Amino acid sequence: MANSVVIIGANRGIGLGFVKHYLKHEWVIHATKRDRSKSTELDALSNKIQIYSLDVQSIEQLSILKSKIKDTPVDLLIHNAGTYGTGLKEEQVIDINSEAPIKLANALMPNILKSKTKKVAILTSQMGARNGGPAPTGLYGKSKCYLNDNFRAIEPEWRSKGITSVLFHPGWVATDMGGTNAPISVEDSVEGMKSVIDNLTIRDSGKFYTWKGDIHPW
Ligand SMILES: NC(=O)c1ccc[n+]([C@@H]2O[C@H](COP(=O)([O-])OP(=O)(O)OC[C@H]3O[C@@H](n4cnc5c(N)ncnc54)[C@H](OP(=O)(O)O)[C@@H]3O)[C@@H](O)[C@H]2O)c1
Repeated sequence: MANSVVIIGANRGIGLGFVKHYLKHEWVIHATKRDRSKSTELDALSNKIQIYSLDVQSIEQLSILKSKIKDTPVDLLIHNAGTYGTGLKEEQVIDINSEAPIKLANALMPNILKSKTKKVAILTSQMGARNGGPAPTGLYGKSKCYLNDNFRAIEPEWRSKGITSVLFHPGWVATDMGGTNAPISVEDSVEGMKSVIDNLTIRDSGKFYTWKGDIHPW
């Protein structure tokens, strides 16, 4: 049976890159996007992948997603959705960047536990590292810093259930968030992260990786 991946926040940027890349490798793809998202590229793939509505702040949409996915085994959950926070209130940014990745993984835990490989990859940022990166300044850095702390608090519990979960800094990537000066393409970032994910074992759980597979300092 083909491997299955759930990609949260898949309509553009790195999330869309993951969709295209895993599709090329013939995975079964469950991709989410917000109702308001402009996503012609993702929608054009609707005959090949499952697309669900999900604003990560919406409990109602999360419960609909769960009811649609039912008891499908999920080999890999990629939580990609994130915001730089422009124009949002602090509590919204914390909710989206720091709380939702953990909430989503917990909500889909029964599906992840049904799979053989049981992997979770969450996109954070070097901006959330207290050491070895730019200081976590601004609301974005603070929210990713909280995400890293939340991940480190919950990861041992997930690991005790046989789940391998990791964080990624995807690099400075040319997306709407990264901007046009970013030196790394979506394709290179995604290909790098996929090859790290492919080789993960439970012994790697709890690590913070760069897109190239180096260990990122916390
Ligand atoms: N690009 C970089 O250089 C860089 C560097 C470090 C870390 N990252 C991280 O990598 C991830 C992807 O970044 P990106 O560059 O691809 O960003 P992007 O181009 O701004 O795309 C962000 C994605 O997250 C989704 N999203 C935002 N808020 C959401 C919400 N409330 N519910 C559901 N989806 C939501 C967006 O959906 P809409 O289209 O509906 O807004 C979009 O699909 C993020 O977590 C980001 O923090 C990126």
